[in-house]
Amino acid sequence: MFSPFLLRQTPLSRFALFSVSTAIAVALASGLCPMAFAQKKASPPTTGAESNLARGKYIVEGVAVCGQCHTPRDSNGNLDRTRWLQGSPVPYLPAKPDMDWPLNAPRIGGTPPASDADMIKLLTTGIWTNGNRLRLPMPQFRMERSDAEAVVSYLRSSGPKQ
Ligand code: HEC
Repeated sequence: MFSPFLLRQTPLSRFALFSVSTAIAVALASGLCPMAFAQKKASPPTTGAESNLARGKYIVEGVAVCGQCHTPRDSNGNLDRTRWLQGSPVPYLPAKPDMDWPLNAPRIGGTPPASDADMIKLLTTGIWTNGNRLRLPMPQFRMERSDAEAVVSYLRSSGPKQ
């Protein structure tokens, strides 16, 4: 039969009660204190430039897939990462014969082929340095300015500088 009186009598159970209450106090302090929680979750700080580069990489590699046209392929048809964004024969043919179809998607990695302002204009409006649109299959991008800036920083960081 349970009796609080009896429990208090034996040194062993007194110790057990003490350790249980200490454990609860420690658990409450570490689990419920917002500061302790925040410290556990905190990730290493990143600079604005790093997150801009990461965003540019994500857009170029994962969304706009610039490399599908602007990176040459190896003999198995896989993109050649050693020549990433260094220009490539256009891998697509038009559905109807088109004398004006470009044969080449030029190099865009490393030093970009135009000033940052011109690159951003292309990516936000679709207009190139000659005042015209580029030919298909180059997509007509309408990016947000901040996305275009992130893409240009990433292009600058990828491939040899020229
Ligand atoms: C589906 C294929 C394709 C994709 C995807 C593509 N491009 Fe292009 N790009 C081309 C082709 C083809 C040209 C050449 C167009 C021409 O000569 O009129 C070109 C031209 C360009 C040029 C002009 C370069 C110069 O020196 O004249 C830039 C800059 C460019 N692309 C950037 C990009 C970027 C940045 C991306 C991704 C955000 C991208 N392209 C995605 C096919 C593509």
